[in-house]
Amino acid sequence: DELDAQQQFDALIDADQRIEPRDWMPDAYRRTLIRQISQHAHSEIIGMQPEANWITRAPSLKRKAILMAKVQDEAGHGLYLYSAAQTLGITRDEMTEQLIAGRARYSSIFNYLTPTWADMGAIGWLVDGAAICNQVPLCRASYGPYGRAMVRICKEESFHQRQGFEILLELAQGTPAQKRMAQDAVNRWYWPSIMMFGPPDDDSPNSAQSMAWKIKRFSNDELRSRFVGMLVPQFEALGLECPDKDLRFDEESGRWITGPIDWDEFQAVLDGRGPMNSQRLRHRREAHESGAWVREAAAEYARKQQEKARF
Ligand code: ACO
Repeated sequence: DELDAQQQFDALIDADQRIEPRDWMPDAYRRTLIRQISQHAHSEIIGMQPEANWITRAPSLKRKAILMAKVQDEAGHGLYLYSAAQTLGITRDEMTEQLIAGRARYSSIFNYLTPTWADMGAIGWLVDGAAICNQVPLCRASYGPYGRAMVRICKEESFHQRQGFEILLELAQGTPAQKRMAQDAVNRWYWPSIMMFGPPDDDSPNSAQSMAWKIKRFSNDELRSRFVGMLVPQFEALGLECPDKDLRFDEESGRWITGPIDWDEFQAVLDGRGPMNSQRLRHRREAHESGAWVREAAAEYARKQQEKARF
């Protein structure tokens, strides 16, 4: 029976069909999805912090309304993704516990500082731009609930990316001091956004299997190359300089090749030694604790509703 089920699973994957929660699936496939989707959900939730930091200081009412909408979108993305992960048999409580205990990964990118308003532009343009590049192919991921969640997330991410680009464009066309602020933010976010795609292909232990299962459709380096290629004309439109002076298009492979990437910095951030790792986790833990009464009230309300429905 197990053999039959495995054959059926393989046939679905081969035919580019979707695996759904009730279908049989190999344990390792289930574990990989729980790992990736929960990490992705945690990234969205932790990712609210660097920008929420600027809501009270946004330079105008319009900017504040846009930023609030964007940060709320990130919360929504986290919720769709936690729901997708729950279909695989892990509970929301377990995932939250792993995150606040510091046992779960979330994207390296959210461990950097946001000292200026231009950082809101750089995050939208570079971080959300990288996220779209990585996530559009995930709309075709073989696991149904993940792929479907990604469709809406990608639509919202493209609004986020445009709003970031527009913030930078306005600053770049402003006073010399505003332009310097935009360039400084781009200089600080450029390399970390390149690292978001994960380790180089020959150092990416999960890629081969995830690609065979059609969870990932492109390798980390392929997506990274596509991303930097997209940035080139956008740097020109902004009138800002690309911090990577060695970036070049390689005719032979048809790929953009970046200058050397500081993988030691990436590893340090993954190991919890980035500039903001401990603060991000502390803040998440405190928010969880101070929200305890809301969860209790909601659970009690649900219990009363159920009791009423019984009579
Ligand atoms: N930040 C933190 N950890 C990372 C990052 C990163 N930028 N990139 C890779 N890693 C981790 C992987 O999670 C993996 O760790 P684990 O085995 O302990 O889980 C390890 O480094 C090795 O990497 P890979 O073998 O390449 O891992 P994987 O095949 O999962 O590829 C990738 C990594 C590309 C990030 C993939 O998981 C993915 O596409 N995830 C969905 C997108 C996502 O999570 N985006 C979050 C940021 S975007 C946003 O929220 C706005």
